[in-house]
Amino acid sequence: MIAIVGSGRVGANVAVQIVTKELDDLTLIDVAQNLPQGEALDLQHMAASYGIDLKIKGTNDFSELGRADLIIVAAGFGRKPGQTRLDLMKQNSGIIASVSKEIAKYAKSSMVLMITNPMDAMTYVAHRVTGFPTNRVFGMGGMLDSCRFKSLLAQELGVSSKSLGVMVIGEHGESMVPLPRFSSVSGVALEKFLSKKKMDEAVEMTRKIAAEVIALKGATIYGPSASVASMVDAIVNDRKSLMPASVYLNGEFGVSDIYIGVPAIIGRDGIERIVEVPLDEAERAIFLRGVTSLKDAISTLDL
Ligand code: 2OP
Repeated sequence: MIAIVGSGRVGANVAVQIVTKELDDLTLIDVAQNLPQGEALDLQHMAASYGIDLKIKGTNDFSELGRADLIIVAAGFGRKPGQTRLDLMKQNSGIIASVSKEIAKYAKSSMVLMITNPMDAMTYVAHRVTGFPTNRVFGMGGMLDSCRFKSLLAQELGVSSKSLGVMVIGEHGESMVPLPRFSSVSGVALEKFLSKKKMDEAVEMTRKIAAEVIALKGATIYGPSASVASMVDAIVNDRKSLMPASVYLNGEFGVSDIYIGVPAIIGRDGIERIVEVPLDEAERAIFLRGVTSLKDAISTLDL
């Protein structure tokens, strides 16, 4: 069973995607009275309409986490127009610490997939509070950033997003690192299709586009949910997919004691392997800027 903690717009939409992809039975958990129960009923009706027979439940009782193999954490506040992800640090760290305590209490063998922002820092909090091994605690950010890079490139190049393989690593935030050198159109280098100027524009827009969605509609919902669903699919179906994810680094990429986005093989055991790719000087500088800002943010917490 998969549990989703947080039944707000993102949590609920993750549920929609997990149900429509028939990935697993689902329990929605939230402190708000009635909300998860209402969402679960509505989802049951959607499932019946599609002929999907998963068990879907909503509850305010965190002990139900005990039945979960995978816990997706979407609790907390979202970005408001004009806010960066790191601006949410104070508001969300207490929430994530208390959710993590419940996870550690009731679901000792579960896997934790963090979505709440600032996602890399919140994944660190979940790891420290639960004490779970690092392969079982990781976060979703790079998949979403990669989908945005892919969407921009598909439009600019006039090719199917299916033929694009892209990679975005680093902080899920101001210092994310889109990697054109490790991206291609079905194996053909991007530089065959785009000038350096256009490529730089696509990279910059990838960093900024979430803020644009938030300014327009108040939140990002479908993009994050779809990216979570693709990671859940990799876990549930043991796909061994190479995906960017926020994972704990212990010397990899030359840094330690931090959660940040890097390529990893994802399957039944969660983060099964970190794949180190050689960064050039410019890529590494931005990657390290993200490391520094995350370490600064984490150092303000009492963990
Ligand atoms: C996003 O990138 C706000 O982190 C969230 O959509």
